[in-house]
Amino acid sequence: MNLVEIIARKRDGIALSDRQISELIRTFTDGSLPDYQMAALAMAIYFQGMDRDEVVSLTRNMLESGEVFNWTGIDRPVVDKHSTGGIGDKISIVLAPLLAAAGMAVPMISGRGLGATGGTLDKLESIPGFNVNLSMEAIRKQIKDIGCVIAGATKQIAPADQRLYALRDVTATVPSIPLITSSILSKKLAEGLDALVLDVKFGSGAFMKSPEKAMALARSLVMVACQLGVPTTAMLTDMNQPNGRMVGNANEVNESVEVLTGGGPQDVRNLTIELATAIHAMTGVEVPFDAAQLKAKYSKLLDGGEAMENFERMLHAQGACWTRPLDCEPAHPVIAKREGWIVEMDAEQLGWIVIDLGGGRTRLGDRLNHATGIEMCSRIGDQVVNGQPLANLLCNRNDFRKVNQRLLDAIRIGEEPPETLPLIAGLVTNENTWTIRND
Ligand code: URA
Repeated sequence: MNLVEIIARKRDGIALSDRQISELIRTFTDGSLPDYQMAALAMAIYFQGMDRDEVVSLTRNMLESGEVFNWTGIDRPVVDKHSTGGIGDKISIVLAPLLAAAGMAVPMISGRGLGATGGTLDKLESIPGFNVNLSMEAIRKQIKDIGCVIAGATKQIAPADQRLYALRDVTATVPSIPLITSSILSKKLAEGLDALVLDVKFGSGAFMKSPEKAMALARSLVMVACQLGVPTTAMLTDMNQPNGRMVGNANEVNESVEVLTGGGPQDVRNLTIELATAIHAMTGVEVPFDAAQLKAKYSKLLDGGEAMENFERMLHAQGACWTRPLDCEPAHPVIAKREGWIVEMDAEQLGWIVIDLGGGRTRLGDRLNHATGIEMCSRIGDQVVNGQPLANLLCNRNDFRKVNQRLLDAIRIGEEPPETLPLIAGLVTNENTWTIRND
């Protein structure tokens, strides 16, 4: 069967065999399957979906299009976290050095901003000198020396995904669960992991707006990763408002350092500790009987300074150092025009505002102003009075005038206190059982 016939089968809703998927990915990677045929296949997958065996095969073939880290000689468990992206999501910056302080190896391959969401690499580049472009060998050496690294994907990691993602981006085929699953996991599994935890976000600031869609993605990711031999758990977390107070780049790094030194906002601290605990439990290393003991261990590593020491070592290894909080643009308060309770936020709009302030890209290659951003002074459920600052915009006076009203419009004040959601709404485990927590 030729490649056109294989694409036609998918178009007609017939499941592809492992051999057929392997042939498609092999020829796409070596350049003999042209972009227009791959784009047609992506569209066929978008409309027809894929069954379990097909997604596993697609992920494995994309993973095998590149190299996988080999950790021979590293005696720590190799672990990582992936977030599906949100507003103010700075968890990776805290979690990588925290897990390293607990004896794990964390070769975290991260990304840049996507849509309205910020990217860990962009945030870390607020720190003068911080280098995210490391070779596989440099990543390996840093893991051996200090246990954690946060860097961009190298050319050798899942090259089929790097090309396919660029095609999906311009052919409206990004929001497909089989394609998202294979894209995320082909890169994460190339890290050669012993365990993976996923933070699958839902809500106004997430790609998946409803918990049900986030659950479908989480189940697909956990099923495929486990089938490919990596113990994986997913947490479904609320992204109807930013994680923490800060949205931006330099200000998010400053807030991460607050959490790394035992302070910072409770939601960021709690989510980091929950994710660390979930991943630690999967490694089987010194797992105490009671999860509360593991959480206490991670709290201590934040409060006692060990996590911050690892963060400083990571900065040093990647060309930077921490001397004091990073400078930000001046703060201009955004004032409430009425009293009531904050009932809703358009978190995605907060992300777009930061982008428009220069803190993110609208075009490939745009240079960022890392010093802009938003500092939230209120959260959903807070009671506010007329004249009270709801947020501070970190920007120049002209930009403040342009976006002040947009920020006000993104924060809805109502007459009654709203029902507030728990930060962690559900869990998808290895056995694919799940719960939506309502406590
Ligand atoms: N992030 C990825 O890496 N791939 C996707 O398809 C979506 C988000």
